[in-house]
Amino acid sequence: MQKPKVFVTRLIPEAGLKTIVEHCQADVWRDPLPPPRDVLLERVRECEGLLALLTDRIDPELMDRAPKLRVVSNYAVGFNNIDVPAATSRGICIGNTPGVLTDATADMAFALLISAARRIVESQRYAIEGKWKTWEPLGHIGQDLAGRTVGIVGMGRIGTAMARRCRLGWDMRVLYYDVHANADAERELAAQRVELDVLLRQSDFISVHTDLNDSTRGMFNAAAFAKMKHTAVFVNTARGPLVVEHDLADALRTGRIFAAGLDVTDPEPPKADNPLLGLPNCIVAPHIASATVSSRNAMAEIAADNLLAGLAGEKLRAWVNPEVAANRRR
Ligand code: DGY
Repeated sequence: MQKPKVFVTRLIPEAGLKTIVEHCQADVWRDPLPPPRDVLLERVRECEGLLALLTDRIDPELMDRAPKLRVVSNYAVGFNNIDVPAATSRGICIGNTPGVLTDATADMAFALLISAARRIVESQRYAIEGKWKTWEPLGHIGQDLAGRTVGIVGMGRIGTAMARRCRLGWDMRVLYYDVHANADAERELAAQRVELDVLLRQSDFISVHTDLNDSTRGMFNAAAFAKMKHTAVFVNTARGPLVVEHDLADALRTGRIFAAGLDVTDPEPPKADNPLLGLPNCIVAPHIASATVSSRNAMAEIAADNLLAGLAGEKLRAWVNPEVAANRRR
C-alpha cells in the first residue's frame, strides 16, 4: 500500500519526525525559515496530511488548493494560525499539542515576571557596557514579589501553573479573569475570579494566558494600561496581538506602568522600529516559552501521533475539532 503524502513545514525533533518519515512519504522543509506562502501552497497540493507550525497560515485558500488534505497537525498548543471552522466544514481534522508545555511556559512567564520586576536584563546590559562603577544605594531599584498580588488573565492549564508558582512559591494573592470559573484554582490557590477591571486595578503583576480570538485581540490597550498601578509589571507569554504594542510602549515610556516581559510580539519577529525593542524596562524574548528538551520532544510525539491518526481515520490524541468526525474527508 502507498504511504500517504505529507508536508512537514520545518524540522521538528526526531522524537516525532522519525515516526512521520517511517509511516509517510514525507516532504520535510529543512530551511530554518518557514516556507514562503507560494511554496507552501504548491507543496501541499497533493498532500493528505500537513504538519504545520504557528508561522504557517492555514486558511480556506490553502485547504482548497489541497483537495486530498485530511489532517493538519499543528506543532503548538495554540492554533490561531488555523481557520478551524473552515477546516471543519471541509472535513479536515485539526490536532494540537496541549499539556506538555504547561510547566515550561509557566516557568517562562515567571522568569519574565521576576526579571522585569528586578530589572535583571537592564542590569546585565549595564554591567556589560562597563557602567558598573560601584555599589549603588539608589541604583537598579525594582519591585518586591513576596506577598504581592498577581492577576492571571486566562486561568486554563498554563494560567493555573503560573498562579501556582506565584501562590505557593511567593505567597501571592491570586486574582483571575476568565469566562469560565476554575474551581480547582479557587480551592488549591485561593484564587478569586474578578472582573477584568478589578484585576487591572488591583494586581501588582499581570500575566496573560488567554487565547487569541476576536474578543481578546487588542484587549491590552491604552485604556487597560491606564487602569494598572504605576508599579505594575505586565507579562505576556500567550500571543502578541492580544496587546496594542504602541499603547504598551507609551505606558512603559511614560512610567504609566513599571515594566513588561514579553515572549510574543505582533508581528513575529518584531519590526526593527518596534518601539518596545529600545525600552530599558521591556524584556522581549523570541517566543521561547516551550523551548525545553522535554516539552519540544513531547510536542513532536503528539504532533506525529495526531498526524498519523488523522491519516488513518482514527481519533486524534489531541483533537481541536472532534465535531468533524461525522464528515471527515477519507
Ligand atoms: C504554542 O504551543 O502555542 C506556543 O506558542 C509555542 O510552543
